[in-house]
Amino acid sequence: MSTSIRVSLGERSYDILTAPSYAALPPALARLGLPRWACVVSHPALLDRFGAGLLGPLRRAGWDVKTITVPESERSKSYAMAERVLQQLARLAVMQEPLLLAFGGGVVGDLTGFVASVFRRGVPYVQLPTTLLAQVDSAIGGKVGVDLSFAKNFVGTFYQPRLVVNHLGVLRSLPLRQRRSGLGEVIKYGVMADRELFRYVETHAGKCVEGRPAALRVIVPRCCRIKARVVSQDERETRGLRTHLNFGHTLGHAIETATGYRRFTHGEAIAVGMVAASRISVEMGLMPPADASRVEALLRATGLPTRAAGVSWPAAARAMRFDKKFLHGRMRWVLSRGIGRVVVRQDVPPALVERVSRSCLTGLGRP
Ligand code: GLY
Repeated sequence: MSTSIRVSLGERSYDILTAPSYAALPPALARLGLPRWACVVSHPALLDRFGAGLLGPLRRAGWDVKTITVPESERSKSYAMAERVLQQLARLAVMQEPLLLAFGGGVVGDLTGFVASVFRRGVPYVQLPTTLLAQVDSAIGGKVGVDLSFAKNFVGTFYQPRLVVNHLGVLRSLPLRQRRSGLGEVIKYGVMADRELFRYVETHAGKCVEGRPAALRVIVPRCCRIKARVVSQDERETRGLRTHLNFGHTLGHAIETATGYRRFTHGEAIAVGMVAASRISVEMGLMPPADASRVEALLRATGLPTRAAGVSWPAAARAMRFDKKFLHGRMRWVLSRGIGRVVVRQDVPPALVERVSRSCLTGLGRP
């Protein structure tokens, strides 16, 4: 069974299809009138495993499909890699009007979208996310770009895809660590906007971690609906609403950057960031302590870390200075008013940030 969720952005509107295969992709591309010359950007292992299920239907439907591969690592989300992909694409797409297909997780999606936004001043692209994290979050909303070595997601733009197709079957082979990482974003949506979703993951944590199809059919469209609503209302993060999606990301991004994007997955880093944001929310008198305990308990139940042991506070603090939520020299924090509600605050005392962050970066507790 397929579901379709609309991101409403006027003439840049598009659908998020959740489907059991890529069979629906060629007719959807044809309906959109997208070019018949396509280049899939992906990882070699992913193409080996699932390439036939993607390229087969496209080629049978008359698409001329080429591929470009990048290594499977956050470090592929770099300016240097974008240039390499641009050069390969320029050589492949001679005298062709290209369509780019981002077939991978958040790294491939962000990188491909960025390349699409600048290649010949912009060509269409479609997101085919293959991780839980990308299906529920990063593939939707058109935030594309690359990291700098000292600042995550620091170079980029808003450039919406023409379509997102979430094939739930590809999630079945995701490594456990990747499934857990995606659940970090799912839990974020629960804290941010959906108590019922949070309760669902609490009740069915085991099934969610195992990636059971019945659980995925609930959580993926539910998160996509929230993301579509937020992006439709605040595409460029100018109304404060899209900022809500960054609950847990302030310390989370800092942890990723301070560890060279190598030690923690994005979901693991934001899990620790959500613990910090929840604790700050409690200390600011916003969040009931029992709700903060539920957040920590759920992160543990899904096998996500609640501490980033061994990350130095000075390194995290340095990375935090490059957080894009800074406004007029002041850090904006996304805090919780209780599960299901968040608020953006600019008045978190730096001493509180340091104390709470340090408590999340000690060697005590889970790694
Ligand atoms: N992942 C946060 C956003 O799309 O705004």
